[in-house]
Amino acid sequence: MKRIAVLTSGGDAPGMNAAIRAVVRTGISKGWEVYGVHEGYKGLIEGKFIQMGIRDVGGIIQRGGTVLGSARCEEFKTEAGRLEALRSLNENKIEALVVIGGNGSQTGTLKLHEMGFPVVGVASTIDNDLVGTDITIGVDTALNIALEAIDRLKVTGSSHQRGFLLEVMGRNCGYLALMAAIAGGAETVVIPEVETVPEEVAGILMRAYERGKSHAIVVVAEGAKYNAEKLAEYFKEHEESTGFALRSTVLGHVQRGGTPSAADRILASRLGAGATDAIEAGNFGVLVGWVNSHLHTTPLKDVVGKTKSIDMELFELARKLD
Ligand code: ADP
Ligand code: F6P
Repeated sequence: MKRIAVLTSGGDAPGMNAAIRAVVRTGISKGWEVYGVHEGYKGLIEGKFIQMGIRDVGGIIQRGGTVLGSARCEEFKTEAGRLEALRSLNENKIEALVVIGGNGSQTGTLKLHEMGFPVVGVASTIDNDLVGTDITIGVDTALNIALEAIDRLKVTGSSHQRGFLLEVMGRNCGYLALMAAIAGGAETVVIPEVETVPEEVAGILMRAYERGKSHAIVVVAEGAKYNAEKLAEYFKEHEESTGFALRSTVLGHVQRGGTPSAADRILASRLGAGATDAIEAGNFGVLVGWVNSHLHTTPLKDVVGKTKSIDMELFELARKLD
């Protein structure tokens, strides 16, 4: 009998529950015992293991967040913390661990692998910044939340002939902002990958006004050099010369809390099942992701420490469609 464990770590992402459910149910169907670890690496260190049955993951696929809880755990970044986690895994006779999480979490997964523990990572973060997968769990839902915000801002913007800055999450990656801008028909987008100065944004908005637009939306990635706060400051200082001030909305954690979309539930179910298949095949130290419409495993050493790049054609498209 194999005993495996699963945890969720870092920023929660809509769809994590579907991934947990898939790990638990496919693991049990292979004849294994499956344990959930509460609160990510913190719970691993503290030994918060609980055995999960088929029914324990019933009714969670439609819920945002993670029923296992998540955490940011500084202690796990230290050798001593990780040794404590290893001790805890061994004490509970766990033979393999599935880590559902983003870039930071998978850095931790690689460290456990390098310490000789059998691990498999599942790509989950709203940021879509992980190398080794085209898309991560949570992105689609977060994107649709940003889109709804843009649609709403356009309504009030048109009524008042106003411009809006909308800042979206994504850490150092502009993916969410770029996709939201294209899907929402924003006037322009500001992302960390392409340095954009406030004067450039002002020029784009002025041209939009001259073309008779009744509103203007600028989607800004939180990681951009000129984020919403800095851009808003610029527009306030230059209100006279530009002829307008911009209202600013920071979407923040609202983006993480949505009901998972169909796409996220399906992706998470596939990746969760892929994780137990990887364990069965003895394919450890890998990230389970989705590449070219197929399940794909990539060695964690080729994933960690990198940030996925932006498709520049999409950036050009966003700027063309204003
Ligand atoms: P995410 O996984 O969403 O990117 P974080 O970057 O906050 O979120 O990482 C989640 C957790 O992963 C951290 O709190 C820490 O416990 C672990 N982690 C992050 N970086 C490292 C590292 N360099 N070494 C070991 N563990 C790490
Ligand atoms: O990684 C997911 C994410 O939501 C990022 O987009 C954001 O920068 C960060 O987490 C926010 O972290 P916290 O939840 O700790 O405020």
